[in-house]
Amino acid sequence: MDLNFFLFAVITAATLCLSESLTSPHSVQHDRDPFIRQVVEDDGDFNRHALGAEHHFSLFKRRFGKSYATEEEHDRRFKIFKANMRRAERHQSFDPSAIHGITQFSDLTPFEFRKAFLGLRGHRLRLPVDTNAAPILPTENLPIDFDWRERGAVTRVKNQGSCGSCWSFSTTGAIEGANFLATGKLVSLSEQQLVDCDHECDPEEEDACDSGCNGGLMNSAFEYTLKAGGLMKEQDYPYTGTDHSTCNFDKSKIAASIANFSVVNSLDEDQIAANLVKNGPLAIAINAVFMQTYIGGVSCPFICSNRLDHGVLLVGYGSAGYAPIRMRDKDYWIIKNSWGENWGENGYYKICRGRNICGVDSLVSTVAAVHIHHTSSIASPPRAQ
Ligand SMILES: *[C@@H]1O[C@H](CO)[C@@H](O)[C@H](O)[C@H]1NC(C)=O
Repeated sequence: MDLNFFLFAVITAATLCLSESLTSPHSVQHDRDPFIRQVVEDDGDFNRHALGAEHHFSLFKRRFGKSYATEEEHDRRFKIFKANMRRAERHQSFDPSAIHGITQFSDLTPFEFRKAFLGLRGHRLRLPVDTNAAPILPTENLPIDFDWRERGAVTRVKNQGSCGSCWSFSTTGAIEGANFLATGKLVSLSEQQLVDCDHECDPEEEDACDSGCNGGLMNSAFEYTLKAGGLMKEQDYPYTGTDHSTCNFDKSKIAASIANFSVVNSLDEDQIAANLVKNGPLAIAINAVFMQTYIGGVSCPFICSNRLDHGVLLVGYGSAGYAPIRMRDKDYWIIKNSWGENWGENGYYKICRGRNICGVDSLVSTVAAVHIHHTSSIASPPRAQ
């Protein structure tokens, strides 16, 4: 990565984080701003502009089924909620092409949010031993719009719950797509297998192991999948969103196996697009700071840290430009998230292409699946380790 750009990103990230402070005594309350509109629009005919934070908070509680055990907790959450309303407003002004507002995460501090709903471990960009650099692909004749959802390669939006297991969903999403390309069948695969069984470590870095709800990395999870032989189906090893002490992997029930994985080793967005089109949905990392308040539209913040903290799935790209001339800055990536269908645009996020916004181009992995022939009568000899 270009060092100047990196330093710029680090400095701007630090600036952004400062402005994210929830405890600033100087913040004024802006409860009347238009960004709040979308959360109350189904409430009809009262005067929106007279709404106070309290009213928004009770709508929020009702809409997301929130209740708090004690009065103190309730008051604390209300305080955080108000800070998040101001934060959403700041995000709205940094990111005018998206809609920011109240989400199911509006009663969480940024720290709580990161801890419970993200889960990309570390910031290291060193890769496991089996990683190849993806071959450079031709980029002429790439389609202008492309969406793997329309081609049957993407399972329904899943929900990681309150568990830092984003990395496992990004991993299964990429393998589900690759498996679809290899076999013609879309099979939902088990994140819980990765949460429970994948403890793949970086031999050169202490404490850098995939660790269930405490985070992980997609490339390590691909490495695990190669070593384990594959992943079981979702229904055979269902998601619980908690760390189990035991691994219940049953090798005889492997539903998808991978041949290899590789890293799209550049910030070249045409290469990313070419790999997406050729190999299926891609596991990518991103900075999720704008996602806590995201409601819809194309996210294209003026400033966004590229400190990667979330693993997601790149499934397509499109263009929001209606002008006769195609405008690059209206192009966006389509990203599948793992926070359920009620978040974002039916569980999806759109982020603009062209500037490595929020680090979206920084860590992109592609995976190839192999067709498994179920020959249960032929026992394979145990693998010597
Ligand atoms: C990965 O495996 C697939 C399927 O076996 C193969 O076609 C492809 O060339 C491999 N890619 C790399 C980078 O090794």
